[in-house]
Order: sequence, then C-alpha cells, then structure tokens
Amino acid sequence: DTGMFTYDPGFTSTGSCESKITYIDGDAGVLRHRGYAIDDLAKNCDFLEVAYLLLRGELPNKAELTAFEGTMARHTMVHEQLAKFYQGFRRDAHPMAVMCGVVGALSAFYHDSTDISDPYNRMVSQHRLIAKMPTIAAWAYKYSIGQPFMYPKNDLSYAENFLYMMFATPCEDYKVSPTLARAMERILILHADHEQNASTSTVRLAGSSGANPFACIAAGIASLWGPAHGGANEAVLKMLSEIGTVDRIPEFVKKAKDKNDPFRLMGFGHRVYKNYDPRATIMAETCREVLAELGVENEPLLQVAVELERIAREDEYFIEKKLYPNVDFYSGIIFRAMGIPVSMFTCLFALARTTGWVAQWSEMIEDPHQKIGRPRQLFTGEFDKTFVALDERK
Ligand code: SDX
Repeated sequence: DTGMFTYDPGFTSTGSCESKITYIDGDAGVLRHRGYAIDDLAKNCDFLEVAYLLLRGELPNKAELTAFEGTMARHTMVHEQLAKFYQGFRRDAHPMAVMCGVVGALSAFYHDSTDISDPYNRMVSQHRLIAKMPTIAAWAYKYSIGQPFMYPKNDLSYAENFLYMMFATPCEDYKVSPTLARAMERILILHADHEQNASTSTVRLAGSSGANPFACIAAGIASLWGPAHGGANEAVLKMLSEIGTVDRIPEFVKKAKDKNDPFRLMGFGHRVYKNYDPRATIMAETCREVLAELGVENEPLLQVAVELERIAREDEYFIEKKLYPNVDFYSGIIFRAMGIPVSMFTCLFALARTTGWVAQWSEMIEDPHQKIGRPRQLFTGEFDKTFVALDERK
C-alpha cells in the first residue's frame, strides 16, 4: 500500500497484477513462458504445444498433445450464420475492423458458453476462441479480395490450416511448404503471449467485470490494432518501403532523433525491453530462412532493415535511449515474402495473441480473490467552482 494506491488481487490501482504465465526481464532481454525460455519453445515446439503450456501450465506429453489437437480440430469451423455476418462489411474494410466485429459477434453465436460461472463453458470458450481464430482471420482476407471462404482441413497443423485457408481456392489446392509452415508456427509462438502488455491488460480489465470471453478478446483485438502496439508490424513495412534504399536511412534516423518530429522508427523500442527483444533475434533468423527458401534473400526491404538495424545500434541516441529492434521489426518482411498483404499483418498478431489473451483471462477469472479492476487516478482538474446560471454566463 503506497498510501496513494491500495492493492487488490484483480488489479492493483497501478494497473499491475499477479500471474504465473509469462516472465520478462526487460534489462536482460529474457522472455519465459511457464518457466521455459522462448528460444527453446520457438525452436522445438509447434504452436498448439505452446498453447497447451500457456493454458494448462505444463508442456503436454504425446498423448495429451494428440488429445488437445483433436479437441482443437473439432472447433475450427464457425457457425454458418457467422459466415454471412462478413457480408455486412465493405470489401475494403481493414481486416482488423472485420476481426473486431466478428469476434465480438461470437458471443451472439455461442451464447451457450457465455455463462462463465460454469467451468465447462469457460473451457469450451477457450477452445472455441483459439481454434476458430485462424478461420476468422483467413476469412477476413478472403472477404477483402472477393474470394470464397475455404473451410479448415482438420488434418493440417494450426499454421498449415491458416495458410491453406488464406491461399487455397475451390479451383486449385494449395500445398503448404513445410519450411513456411514451420516458420509460421514459430512466428505464432513468438507472438503468443507477452505478460501484461496493452492488449492483454485490456482483456483482463474487460474480463474482471464478468464480461464473456468473446467480448473480452474483441476488446484485446481493438487495443492491439494501435500502431504503437500490434499495428507496428504493418507500420514497419510502410516505413521500410518509404525509406526505399539504404542510402536514405540516415535521413530517417535523423528524423527519429528529432524531438520536434513525431516520426519514430517503427519496430524499435519497447516499454519493457531495454535490451534486445529475444523474439526479434529469432524472428531475424526466421526471416533469413524464409527468404532463402523463397529465393528472395536479396529482397531490398530486408537489406534496408538489416542496414537500418546496424546503423541504429551504433547510434549514440539509440544506445542511450536503449532502443533495440522489437518483435515487429522483421515479422512484416516475412509475411510479405509469404504473400500475406500488409493489411493482414496485425491480424496474424491477433491470431497468435488470442492464446495468450485466453490464458491470461482464464488465470484472472479462476482467481478466487479476483475483483473488478478499478485503476485509480491522480486528479489534476479544477476542484471547487461556483455554479453560474446559463443566462448569466458570458
Ligand atoms: C509491441 O508491451 C508489450 O509487450 C508490447 C509487445 C507485445 O508483445 O505485446 O511487445 C508488442 O507493441 C512492441 C512495440 C511495437 N511498437 C513499435 O515498434 C512502435 C515504435 N516504438 C515506439 O512507439 C515505442 O518504442 C514504444 C511505444 C514501443 C515505447 O514507447 P516509450 O514508452 O516512449 O519508450 P521509452 O520510454 O523506452 O522511450 C525512451 C525514449 C523516449 O524519448 P524521451 O521521452 O526519453 O526523450 O526513446 C524515445 C521516446 O520518445 N523512443 C523512440 C522510439 N521509441 C522510443 N525514438 C525513436 N524511435 C522509436 N521507435
């Protein structure tokens, strides 16, 4: 109790909470999920293995993973009426706007599991959200390009299914390359959870009132959309494209250092990491692997990104401000190489982070001492004014 704020289990008034899911040491550049290093998870697991870990607290054995994959497979389809729900959007709607709307609408289609006082409903809602997100995200893309929706195929992995629903059409099948599927599984793992970031805190605060999990995840998607948060991967691509060539980098680095210029180097800096974001290291390796696999390792944007990182890391402003590349710096280059449009980049972040949001929501809702979140404020307004009737106001 600091005198100004009192502690309550759901949220301290300073907006922090207790959790067992993810540990970050921003100064040391450490990220661990349920005690496991992100490097070990990203390089050795597939996405549903890590989803199981985040939800249940331990890595699954083979039988547990097979059962979990089976459960997920039975929830990948969405209600047929929900497919019609997309028709209400303009074709040129941003896919994040569509995802916000469609995920919020899930509580109207699955109202049987919105009564979260029942543990079974809470579990079914968890599974529905994680399993249906690839379908919902891929359909947002298909709707934007006027192609028919592709139904999930339950013999595909989580990432394969997403890429299949993105790029297959009724006229021709789409075989997902093992390298791209592996890269996508790793990218989804790197985005799965990240402690109490803005969107996760949004989900927890929304959930602390007892709102149903579908509405809470829709709130998380809305928060993630911001360019300072999950929208940064889309902003990085636009920035790299605007820089265009390596020789224009110094001009943009100078703008980023100018206090009077609102321009910031997208994909750099972090609220917590004051050292290298460990996810960015793995993402850079994955970027080089994917571009080599696709034969585009000389992709100009990658050259600009690598040189921009080198220059920024040697620049005394960025060193003094402890600004390093974050998880969003390389992801957009990989997605673009895979043929994923810029407008879908943040949707992929939301797709992956849904598992973290669901795990964090569950942890909060299962806490027997949980109370509604109620962050306090420091009041800085005028306090005691004399009322003046309308006719007498100047
Ligand atoms: C994500 O919270 C999470 O965990 C989020 C996330 C997750 O997984 O959920 O990790 C995902 O959101 C990653 C961040 C993606 N956003 C971007 O890449 C957008 C560009 N970065 C910034 O807008 C910025 O770095 C923030 C928003 C991420 C952090 O901003 P802060 O809190 O202001 O950072 P800071 O306090 O460390 O800044 C120190 C100084 C400040 O200058 P001074 O006020 O000290 O003079 O560095 C400056 C900032 O203005 N600064 C930058 C900069 N980021 C911070 N200057 C130029 N370019 C930048 N990118």
